Amino acid sequence: MYKCSNCNSVQSKWSGKCVNCGEWNTLVEQQQSLQNLKNKKKKSTQVNSGAFGVRLLSREEGSNKRFSSGFSEFDRVLGGGFVSGEVILLTGNPGIGKSTLLLQVVGNLIENGSRCLYISSEESFEQINSRGLRVIDVERNKDFNIYTGRIIEEAIDVALQSEKYDFVVIDSISTFVSNDYDGVFGGIGNIKTVILKILDYAKTTNTTVLVVGHVNKEGAIAGPKLLEHMVDALIFLEGDSHHDYRMLRSEKNRFGSSGEIGFFEMEEKGFKEIKNPSELFVSKLTQGKPGVVVGSAIEGNRCLFFEVQTLLAPSFPQQVRRIPQGISHNRLVILSAVASKYLKLKLENFDIYLSIAGGLKVDDPAIDLSVIMSIYSAKKGVPIAHETLWIGEVGLSGEVRRIRNIEKRIEEARGLGVTKVYTSILYEKEHKGVEITGLKNITDILSTK
Ligand code: TYD
Ligand code: MG
Repeated sequence: MYKCSNCNSVQSKWSGKCVNCGEWNTLVEQQQSLQNLKNKKKKSTQVNSGAFGVRLLSREEGSNKRFSSGFSEFDRVLGGGFVSGEVILLTGNPGIGKSTLLLQVVGNLIENGSRCLYISSEESFEQINSRGLRVIDVERNKDFNIYTGRIIEEAIDVALQSEKYDFVVIDSISTFVSNDYDGVFGGIGNIKTVILKILDYAKTTNTTVLVVGHVNKEGAIAGPKLLEHMVDALIFLEGDSHHDYRMLRSEKNRFGSSGEIGFFEMEEKGFKEIKNPSELFVSKLTQGKPGVVVGSAIEGNRCLFFEVQTLLAPSFPQQVRRIPQGISHNRLVILSAVASKYLKLKLENFDIYLSIAGGLKVDDPAIDLSVIMSIYSAKKGVPIAHETLWIGEVGLSGEVRRIRNIEKRIEEARGLGVTKVYTSILYEKEHKGVEITGLKNITDILSTK
């Protein structure tokens, strides 16, 4: 290897004139012995083993303390707040609002007396600062520490040199490089080396670290699968481009239950929490419109209500389509077949467009009955009152099955103004102020009023 002493370019062959800058006699041979390379390789595998020897299970919680993010919706997803020493991976599409949300979280933490550092490898100090001015109160955030850089060892050194931090943001893992990694930038090996360093820092200093990750085109986390296994919690920030609200969802959480959802609204001045999302998803405008039925799903510990909407349109011959949004395609195909057969709907010449309004994605089988009612209502042109709730899993022979947490759903539905619930016959009993009609099979729908 030869390096030009004028322009620093590196060339593999010696020549009198530097091919890069055109200066003469500037190429100097670089000594890079095998021993050197070996030492370097060895260094990259030197991570703290994290072992303490055998210890006994103890009553003491130790130093793992919880602290609030300042957003109750975020705390819910975390299982009750951040835990000191945990490493969380937050991912989501570009522009969805990850950096904005984290700036606000750091702002909240500082106001509550925590020491925080915001490390960014993606944006300049000026960019972060100007957004910060928009979303946080600078007067109350005088200790807002920002560091920008691209080398993970340097960033961690900065964090270590200062007084101990309680919370550190790393935005984002994919744009960091490690001095101990010689391979391709942005490659899997690079991300692995970087996350090992971060884990090491978090666990040895008992600092909570929130790492931002990217998602690729298919919506999966960019980087090795290993990344998901190594972190303590994995959180997605989602939403669709037509709505201003965002959902924060935990996919994995070593310190709480997964599947929890938090709701936020993106405004001029950053994120605002939505504490009562069902009010947002059930609209007064669609009251009395055929094809619109209120459905319910349990996500984590929360019971959500939303509209299931169906539109039927005559289809081209031999081209019947079933197009769902918010439930799986298979589910819509099966449920429309069940509805067609047992409710005698004759859907074979109709395209079905079904959507869970508001962009929610639902897997809870309890919505089967509301999906079927929505199709029924659209086909017959009969409106279904918003004060009624249809919940239950529906089997292939049309039987209405049991679902989990029926009490909780009825209780919360009552709060939304629901007065009548249609569900499995198993639950037919009095419930304070709510009339419950039990159905054995969906054919019973034909005889209900
Ligand atoms: P950003 O936090 O940069 O997203 P990410 O880090 O996930 O890539 O979010 C950028 C988007 O958010 C941008 O399109 C503008 C919008 N935004 C608001 O609507 N309100 C705000 O107060 C801010 C700061 C951004
Ligand atoms: Mg960002």
